Amino acid sequence: MLNVQSLSAAYGASEVLHGVDINVPAGEIVAIMGRNGMGKTTLMKTLMGIIPEKSGAVDVDGTPITGLKSHQRVAKGVAYVPQGRMIFSAMTVQENVETGLTVTGQSKVPDDIYELFPVLLDMKGRRGGNLSGGQQQQLAIARALASNPKVLLLDEPTEGIQPSIIREMARTLRKIRDQKGLTIVVSEQVLSFALDVADRVMVIENGSFVHDSPRDGIDEAKVSKFLSV
Ligand SMILES: Nc1ncnc2c1ncn2[C@@H]1O[C@H](COP(=O)(O)OP(=O)(O)OP(=O)(O)O)[C@@H](O)[C@H]1O
Ligand SMILES: [Mg+2]
Repeated sequence: MLNVQSLSAAYGASEVLHGVDINVPAGEIVAIMGRNGMGKTTLMKTLMGIIPEKSGAVDVDGTPITGLKSHQRVAKGVAYVPQGRMIFSAMTVQENVETGLTVTGQSKVPDDIYELFPVLLDMKGRRGGNLSGGQQQQLAIARALASNPKVLLLDEPTEGIQPSIIREMARTLRKIRDQKGLTIVVSEQVLSFALDVADRVMVIENGSFVHDSPRDGIDEAKVSKFLSV
């Protein structure tokens, strides 16, 4: 479903993503783990067309999206929950979710999105900026789902969120995958969350992958060693 070949990206002359390959079958959840500054956000932004590819190719469901603009990638089925959530503070919860509808041609938010996140239905008319961090994260995920994606990218969704909400988020993401057959790539530094949510764990270091293993039978000690400074 998501096929990334020899993808490189740079800020000016400084290359920070060095020819990475990622292959995610439909319905799989992959966690991309790595310490601060290792290239997780750069990878996500490059997949979304926010940073241009320096070289390499990206396909979604067999369709090349390399070189496309962000909104074109959304139309091809890629959705993105950015690090820090980036919801619109002054807009209501409902308006925030509706911004995700633009590529679908629908004007109404599908009911199943509010079924996944009942708290958002209760707070539909409230300003996004008045929600708690955990509620804003749910809002950012709901907004991404409103574009009816095939592939959902989430960049460190647990950042600044309390442990009980983190566990709930893992359950919700798996539920979304099970209900919609969605393919999910989530960057993460919290190993317990990655082990809760993912079918496969990859580790990025200095812009290259150094580890890739299925969740089942994973060498936890080895992965946590990569994550410790
Ligand atoms: N706009 C930018 N201009 C120049 N260099 C950048 C820019 N953004 C990030 N970098 C550099 O690129 C490298 C990868 O950064 P990136 O933000 O992708 O890391 P990350 O894994 O997402 O880290 P974190 O866990 O802190 O979010 C770092 O060395 C960082 O300093
Ligand atoms: Mg980051």
